[in-house]
Amino acid sequence: MKKSDYLLENSNVEAGRRFEALSAIFDKVTFAHCQRLGLSPGWNVWEVGAGGTSVVQWLADRVGSSGTVTATDIDVSWASTAIAGNVAISKHDVVSTPLQEGFFDLVHTRLVLVHVPERQTALQNMIRALRPGGLLLLEDADPALQPMACINESGPPQVLANKLRHAFRHLMASRGVDLAYGRKLPALLREQGLEDVGADCYFPVAEPFCNILEIATVKLIAPQILAANLATKAELDQHISNVASGALDLTTAPLISAWGKKP
Ligand SMILES: C[S@@+](CC[C@H](N)C(=O)[O-])C[C@H]1O[C@@H](n2cnc3c(N)ncnc32)[C@H](O)[C@@H]1O
Repeated sequence: MKKSDYLLENSNVEAGRRFEALSAIFDKVTFAHCQRLGLSPGWNVWEVGAGGTSVVQWLADRVGSSGTVTATDIDVSWASTAIAGNVAISKHDVVSTPLQEGFFDLVHTRLVLVHVPERQTALQNMIRALRPGGLLLLEDADPALQPMACINESGPPQVLANKLRHAFRHLMASRGVDLAYGRKLPALLREQGLEDVGADCYFPVAEPFCNILEIATVKLIAPQILAANLATKAELDQHISNVASGALDLTTAPLISAWGKKP
């Protein structure tokens, strides 16, 4: 995948705000899953498509000085190099190759594969990087499962929010995003031969950080929305002001988490 194919490019100030909001909304879900899977001192962990540093830093604290965290992304603009000593950050496309075959105790990725057209190759590369008995935790969105920005479409601001969310989905689909990917994760893990496969789903409603995520996302993709005639500049400005009022009770796409063990 070329960096230019990724709709929500990291090298932008709004991308940093998106990572902070994703962290505030989803880190508790990710951390609970890692803990339930038994994340322990000494583990070697690969964080794929790390984006920001909150998950990487948390993993590094859990595995301690006897473990390692390898954080990769096609764009490491927001992955600070000044985090813990047991963390290695590198620019890497998960589609290209496994990082290290048969090495990792845990491979985790969140909100990445949905954006990667070659997601099957990426999935196989992550499994190849696991040691026998190693664990894969995939967390990804299923925007088609719940496509609305406002599930309570009670007035013009909510209608506009849903129109713009639809425009965002349209742009994502045109870049090869699978809008119904999250629901497929458990079946994909079983098909790849993983054992003890399980999954669950988290869906925030009226979470304050959804407002910050929405404003950052809309600012980031505004040029593409305007170029594709999916909305006017006046509509984008109105929507940002509506969201900033804090009265829309915004949602995100549901996050499906699926896990399994390499035999
Ligand atoms: C929506 S962000 C999610 C970031 C982070 N995982 C989180 O949940 O906060 C998607 C991230 O995946 C990265 N990404 C996209 N395609 C990738 C690829 N082929 N290989 C590695 N990283 C990729 C992007 O650069 C971006 O940082």
